[in-house]
Amino acid sequence: MPAPQTVTVHPTSSVRGHVRPPGDKAISHRYALLSALANGTSTIHGYSTGGDCRSTLDCLRALGVSIEQIDRSPDGLSLQITGRGLGSLSAARVTLDAGNSGSTMRMLAGVLAAHPFTSSITGDASLSRRPMKRVIVPLERMGARITSNDGRPPLTIHGTASPAPIDFEADVPSAQVKTAVLLAGLHAEGLTRVRERTRTRDHTERALVAFGASVTPDEGGVALQGRQQLSAQALEVPGDISSAAFWMVAAASLSGSEIVISHVGLNPTRTGIVGILRRIGAIVAVEGDDRAVGEPIGRLTVRHGTLGSTAILPAEVPGVIDELPVLGALATHGGELRVTGAGELRLKESDRISALAGGFRRMGGEIEEFADGFHVRGHRRLRGGEVDARGDHRLAMAFAIAALGASGPTIIHDAGAAAVSYPEFFTVLESLRA
Ligand code: S3P
Repeated sequence: MPAPQTVTVHPTSSVRGHVRPPGDKAISHRYALLSALANGTSTIHGYSTGGDCRSTLDCLRALGVSIEQIDRSPDGLSLQITGRGLGSLSAARVTLDAGNSGSTMRMLAGVLAAHPFTSSITGDASLSRRPMKRVIVPLERMGARITSNDGRPPLTIHGTASPAPIDFEADVPSAQVKTAVLLAGLHAEGLTRVRERTRTRDHTERALVAFGASVTPDEGGVALQGRQQLSAQALEVPGDISSAAFWMVAAASLSGSEIVISHVGLNPTRTGIVGILRRIGAIVAVEGDDRAVGEPIGRLTVRHGTLGSTAILPAEVPGVIDELPVLGALATHGGELRVTGAGELRLKESDRISALAGGFRRMGGEIEEFADGFHVRGHRRLRGGEVDARGDHRLAMAFAIAALGASGPTIIHDAGAAAVSYPEFFTVLESLRA
């Protein structure tokens, strides 16, 4: 059930228990998109129940894809998606709505750029403020024509049946941009290359391989030969480590805590948080499998340890981009955390640097704000207070984790935003109080 808009979080001395996190949001989007482009009917288990991944399904349905929900369990949705084959979506009769989901808009833009019809795609107030030039520029180089509101949504995409393959290096490290280019490139005759100065998550590359395409690692990036046919698959989405991160930080922060997280995705491009937690003093055990092709899945056990200080450097940022708000919350419980090279945080669902600083200060925390990061000093206990998540799911949850260590209650406005990636978050939180 989605969380109500305003939630009061009371402090706790420790957290203990077992959690199976919801299906990974990033992987769910990709499996849905590739299933839609594949030949045959794919089944996906553990698909994210969050609002963002629902937006992707709604858009695909509007583009003529048949999607059947066969089950809904605490582990996520089970779906059957009948692919239409490469380049065979049909024009939507309505404006596509990506809701709050930057991933839906940017990745789908790559697919639509390679279809010879016009599509319009819009989003909510938060998404309408987010930058889209990063996908518009490469997709126009590939032959699409895209109009926007000065580089922001809504987008109108005039796609082409024969996109040109490109050799592309993005200005910003972004897996969404890489994915948009690769998905358009999949429809192109020839080799599309995406070069990355800083490596970003590789879920798209792994998913393409899982659907039978061959993808070549190439000069600090990836190369994809276009027009490879995808074949339908039976897929299982691992638990989302970015959702698990909230429980990892809660266990690390509160003395006497231990949380076991099972069936969680352990893709090395996403596990940066493990090293950072260990560096700051938490005890983290990792038991994983070693799948070379699909997504590695395993179990994490996180225990409290005395918190020290650490810095997250620019090169580490893409590997923990979504965990930075909750890592900020970690340092409110003790120790210190300095983050730099993370200006991208200002362009997420909210300006996460300013919103985090504003919230922590209202809770009695000490946080310094930089253009490209922040520094939290956790030398004194938070007192709690009243904060605003500004419609941003990760902020709502990060404030809740900070609130667990405060001396008084914290009222979180707009906490319902958590449903974008983790509708069950506040219920699970209550179940873990020891
Ligand atoms: C995502 C990539 C990251 C991340 C977002 C999901 C993805 O965004 O913050 O939540 O699924 O590829 P950027 O690509 O904009 O860095």
